[in-house]
Amino acid sequence: MNATKKLVEIGNIVSNTELSADVSALVLECPQVVAEAKPGQFVMIKNEMGSTYLRRPFGVADVDKENGLLLLVYRKAGKGTQELALLEEGSPISVEGPLGKGFSFKEAGRTLLIGGGVGIAPIIYTARHLSEEITGPKPVILFGVRNHKELFWSDFVEDFAEKLIYTTDDGSYGRKGFAIDAIPDILAKYPDIRHIKVCGPTIMMKGIAELAIKQGIECEVSLEKRMACGIGVCLGCTFAGKSGKRWKVCADGPVFDGVEVFG
Ligand code: FES
Repeated sequence: MNATKKLVEIGNIVSNTELSADVSALVLECPQVVAEAKPGQFVMIKNEMGSTYLRRPFGVADVDKENGLLLLVYRKAGKGTQELALLEEGSPISVEGPLGKGFSFKEAGRTLLIGGGVGIAPIIYTARHLSEEITGPKPVILFGVRNHKELFWSDFVEDFAEKLIYTTDDGSYGRKGFAIDAIPDILAKYPDIRHIKVCGPTIMMKGIAELAIKQGIECEVSLEKRMACGIGVCLGCTFAGKSGKRWKVCADGPVFDGVEVFG
């Protein structure tokens, strides 16, 4: 069985801040989990004061290893996340993780990081890691958001980016349209891009992976699936890859080679 080793830690909320009407940032002190966390991995959390019993998966948005802090960014979309948004400093949260396989990193060539919607969250830690730990040019970052009210992401990544570009659905900031529409111009301007890493809605990742494959650029995608156990046991998150192999998103991913998923 490909189960991940279990580490569960009771973390304390350091801050729980609204970034926009429906998106919030949660900072948890959980040094054991943070010490092990890699970009693209996730945690399963349980609100110890909430009404829902099941743990829920959240991508690791960023870490502060020195202070043992974990950042999660979430959209208030259901009962669990609405209850989470009401919690104040000092409240306990059970954190299981870090889980899964994150992004891979190579020294050669520049990386284009792409995020859509709340799927942008794991791009923060990935950008930090590329900028601080990997020799080579800084990443170019492309975010696809709904409108100008979702530009709060800039504060988290601008120090790590060679260039930060937005597309908005309504044209209220940056280029109007989808993230994929901006890619040809970016590749023309930064011909040293050799890797694309993308995290967002499936339709977006599919289009971008297909474009990357056509251009001969290595592409990793971070999949989102409903997860019950998060550790490779329940088989609730499996999918068939293009090679015919069945993968578990929680244990074999959530990050996969774009060729295996969309090729
Ligand atoms: Fe149970 Fe992936 S969520 S196997």
